[in-house]
Amino acid sequence: MNDPLDDHALDVLFREARTHSYWLDRPVSDEVLRQLYDLMKFPPTSANSSPARILFLRTREAKERLRPALSSGNVEKVMTAPVTAIIGFDLRFYEKMTKLFPHNPRMRELFAKTPELMETTARRNSTLQGAYLILAARSLGLDCGPLSGFDNAKVDEEFFGAGHEQAADQEFFPAGHVKSNFLCNLGYGDASRLHPRLPRLTFEEACSLL
Ligand SMILES: Cc1cc2nc3c(=O)[nH]c(=O)nc-3n(C[C@H](O)[C@H](O)[C@H](O)COP(=O)(O)O)c2cc1C
Repeated sequence: MNDPLDDHALDVLFREARTHSYWLDRPVSDEVLRQLYDLMKFPPTSANSSPARILFLRTREAKERLRPALSSGNVEKVMTAPVTAIIGFDLRFYEKMTKLFPHNPRMRELFAKTPELMETTARRNSTLQGAYLILAARSLGLDCGPLSGFDNAKVDEEFFGAGHEQAADQEFFPAGHVKSNFLCNLGYGDASRLHPRLPRLTFEEACSLL
């Protein structure tokens, strides 16, 4: 049992946090990206499967590889962000379960022989991990701009070796095993360029108590 977070923390994580499209000219260090991963890795995934794989694009060169896959409205947002994270999922996540879930080898076997469960688990849990990334980023003082307006197949081909099973540089992202889920720009947002917050559903509209 923990004490609730104070109002300032809740504002930073939720109430005052916004989606950003314009960025201050302030870099994000690799050390901050490591801190980000070392927070987002802790919240739960099913059977501790941890299927998310993340590519942090930090250079102009890396961003240019992403450009052709972006919907037109998202190009400037990505090109001007200090960092763009490609949040992907590894369909072979179960191969790491001897480390991640060592007490029950049957879970690994179950995923290995049930492709539908494998894919559902990878998508669901990498999406959760993407949300954890957003909250971890906010807790470190970063701002986020999540994006799904892009061509997943193009990103998978360019960055994850889809269709190039023999690609030589795929040690970390074995060709064809990793698929993109969504993008998240990271940096320090220019709050002066925000539009007013859109409304949210009330408790009564979104929830019911049984
Ligand atoms: C998964 C996801 C995909 C999104 N895709 C896009 C996108 O392609 N382009 C865009 O401009 N905004 C995109 N958004 C931003 C949302 O429109 C924004 O987060 C939402 O309106 C809430 O804004 P707020 O956080 O400022 O209240 C996306 C957000 C999420 C979570």
